[in-house]
Amino acid sequence: MSKQGTLTALLLLCLITIVKAEDGSQLWLRSEMPKDITLRIDNTMPDDDGYRISGNTITARTEMGLLYGKYALMRGEQGESHPFFKLRILNHWDNLDGSIERGYAGNSIFWGLNPTPKGEGNHISPINKALINKYAEACASIGINGTVLNNVNASPQILTKPYIDKVKEIADILRPWGIRVYLSVNFGSPKALGEVKTADPLNPRVQRWWKKKAKQIYREIPDFGGFLVKANSEGQPGPFDYGRSHADGANMLADALAPYGGIVMWRSFVYGAKHQGEDRVKQAVSEFAELDGQFRPNVILQSKNGPLDFQPREPYAPIFDHMKQTPQMAELQITQEYLGQSKHLVYLAPMWQEFFSFVKPERLVGIAGVANIGLDTNWCGHHFSQANWYAFGRLAWNPTLTSEQIAQEWINQTLDSKINTDSKLTSMLMRSREACVDYMMPLGLHHIFKFDHHMGPEPDGFKADYPIEWCPVYYHRANKDSIGVDRSSTGTNATGQYRQPYRSIYDKPETCPDEYLLWFHRLPWTYRMKSGLTLWEELQRHYNHGVAEVDDFVNIWQQAKPYIDQQRWKEVDSLLRFQQQDARLWRDTCLKYFGEMQHPH
Ligand code: GCU
Repeated sequence: MSKQGTLTALLLLCLITIVKAEDGSQLWLRSEMPKDITLRIDNTMPDDDGYRISGNTITARTEMGLLYGKYALMRGEQGESHPFFKLRILNHWDNLDGSIERGYAGNSIFWGLNPTPKGEGNHISPINKALINKYAEACASIGINGTVLNNVNASPQILTKPYIDKVKEIADILRPWGIRVYLSVNFGSPKALGEVKTADPLNPRVQRWWKKKAKQIYREIPDFGGFLVKANSEGQPGPFDYGRSHADGANMLADALAPYGGIVMWRSFVYGAKHQGEDRVKQAVSEFAELDGQFRPNVILQSKNGPLDFQPREPYAPIFDHMKQTPQMAELQITQEYLGQSKHLVYLAPMWQEFFSFVKPERLVGIAGVANIGLDTNWCGHHFSQANWYAFGRLAWNPTLTSEQIAQEWINQTLDSKINTDSKLTSMLMRSREACVDYMMPLGLHHIFKFDHHMGPEPDGFKADYPIEWCPVYYHRANKDSIGVDRSSTGTNATGQYRQPYRSIYDKPETCPDEYLLWFHRLPWTYRMKSGLTLWEELQRHYNHGVAEVDDFVNIWQQAKPYIDQQRWKEVDSLLRFQQQDARLWRDTCLKYFGEMQHPH
């Protein structure tokens, strides 16, 4: 960050007066600023953007550290704190027409198209400076220091001049807040834009094209962060199209960015390409493990926390065990694609911490969170979905914080501290993810969502003309006798991709934790669970428990009524009632389907 940038940030901080809105638009940013703060720069502190707070004195080595320290003081922190991950990045899946892939809070805050006055087409919507500034402040207040501005299913247009000009405008707004911009790029861009006949990474013309493009970007945005790439996945172009490897592709982009200090975040979310037909959860390891050691130092492999796709619960992705020489980032999903889509209250920090209990943060150079932010007045669609944006930032700064502490911080800053003691809101947040697993997919079930939009249950989903990996029946395989997928050493041997002791633990139903049982094993309905119940009885117990939990959340929210403005209370109440209905729908649909399976007519 430039000196000028950080100084501007401090100036901004002094001038800010946040108007407390009643509609949730204020986020967790407090209206009251602490008074009489003393700011000190101390060059002997560790070389990062950490801070030390003592009373109302904030000391830091950098000006960004002072800015972060101010927000920390507002949260009531004292003592010293340093960022854990160097890269703390939001990934916006925003399309250039303003729509958002898996976005549930309105259109993009960055992009849009407006018809031209004479109707000869569209032009790029002007940037909303005030809004982006507010977004940046919210991000900075929790330490987020990077943002990818467009969808991983990237339009090649993002690399054209009109868009690079807009990216520059956005970067200029974000810079004072310590946030770098990154772009998702389409691997086929040079060809798709008609400027080179191929996108083959070993073709010198293609290499030159990317080098020129990097130069053009850095001329406008000297602190540009780099590229995020989804290649040869779900129909996106990539190096396989030319018989090249992921390493060939990633290294070519890395070479273009290296002179400017840029990075390539290459995604490992792949299936159905090179290893088509293999158990989908194994394919990332199959495609990438052999490439370990072949990537340039400025390539980072970015992998989702689980091996499938952001399910309410997944075992950790074993790719993290396999890449020993390649820097890695975890990709978490803040937007609730498979967890009720901003219509269900589901606090995600416990899920992310579960992941960190298997993949130690020390093994990662950064984390990325797929953003849940849109133009809705309350930013995230559901007032409580803001807590997930907040929690992502806080965990990126310090992954050892407890989910509970983060929930309390968020409640205290966003609602009211009194409300928490009287209405058990923290407990509601803390229980919400497990409740969601219970009413959607307990005991390791997964991906029994309605086709395509992923909201609601469809355990009978099967369409012969779609790839089998898109059909829910592929993921539970229930029949008259049994349910689940045998991924043990007698089945697809997905367990064989795990490090010990997990390989052995997951391989046998007797030692496999109940949470992952049907993920790794195919078992008879009469299988005796650790609880003494049969598998079928245990499944029913979980579904019923999930529903009962949501019933209790509705009650807890009733108790919170006296402490909260009417508008927010009503909006949350009506969503909780929707969630209550939906939880019942999940339970009833799944239990009916699985029940009938066992008693075919
Ligand atoms: C999921 C999601 C897609 C997304 C993809 C990805 O499959 O449903 O919308 O593009 O993940 O992460 O690339």
